[in-house]
Amino acid sequence: MQQIKCSKDIQAFALESRRAGKTIALVPTMGYLHDGHLMLMRKAREKADLVIVSIFVNPIQFGPNEDLDRYPQDLEGDLAKCKTLGVDVVFTPTNEDLYPDLFQTSVEVKEITKDLCGAGRPNHFQGVTTVVSKLFNLTLPNLAFFGEKDFQQLAVIRRMVIDLNFPIEIVGVEIVRERNGLAMSSRNANLPAREREEAPSIYQALSHAKTLYQQGLKESEKLCQTVSKQLEEKISSPFRVEYVKIYDALKLTEIKGRITTPTVLLIAVHLGGTRLIDNLQLEN
Ligand code: PAJ
Repeated sequence: MQQIKCSKDIQAFALESRRAGKTIALVPTMGYLHDGHLMLMRKAREKADLVIVSIFVNPIQFGPNEDLDRYPQDLEGDLAKCKTLGVDVVFTPTNEDLYPDLFQTSVEVKEITKDLCGAGRPNHFQGVTTVVSKLFNLTLPNLAFFGEKDFQQLAVIRRMVIDLNFPIEIVGVEIVRERNGLAMSSRNANLPAREREEAPSIYQALSHAKTLYQQGLKESEKLCQTVSKQLEEKISSPFRVEYVKIYDALKLTEIKGRITTPTVLLIAVHLGGTRLIDNLQLEN
């Protein structure tokens, strides 16, 4: 396994590999790798000749009062995990390399970035689509892997790839959870013991709503209310629900009233000082 730190070098590597007829799979990450990331890498390993994992805590997708400074990092550990999974190249660029002086271009998906996480994090998705476009141009992948844990992010990337004609297949990968149901996230490392114990209530509340849905409760608002109510009952640490909403799973538009299409129940919760997101698809 190689570690490549410089954008010129990774682009030269990717060009040469593509010219030699190799297929490339990219797994973009911000590091502090857990089993969710590793699942993306496993899927990538099955599908391409070369697997490139990028590790870069992208400053432009964090707001001024967010946790950029507290974002957990462990490059040595991450490299060891990538190696075990048979990753070919880990790309670890610096800020100065990706955002040199005079950098001033951005990629913006306009509509589906406004709600949900975009409402609370105004420039977040623009930061994501800009860095992901750069990573696509640097690693020239045939396929790129993203988790359904960040459901809106996956939809935004799919939109961008269609709108800008990137010749890349986007592969979505199911959420990997802890045994207690908590969606794996690098940010879980920031949860103190009591909050970590209570965090699985988020998934339990979503699952409860799904059960009610399957038993015939089809009103969007009522389902969302049951989620908030369950959290009130189960969580004693300070917390705030940023949003709990039901969206059309394909169009990513909000569903109000009776649910008739395939939907997804999405939530963001601030548990103590940590922001956690999760989602669950509701089949008809
Ligand atoms: P990061 O949060 O490190 O996540 C990297 C990828 O892992 C994303 O596609 C995310 O959806 C996926 N992932 C995280 N937790 C997961 C879980 N529990 N199950 C399945 N997949 C999971 O998302 C980002 O980084 C950044 O925004 C990035 C796309 C790298 C751009 O900077």
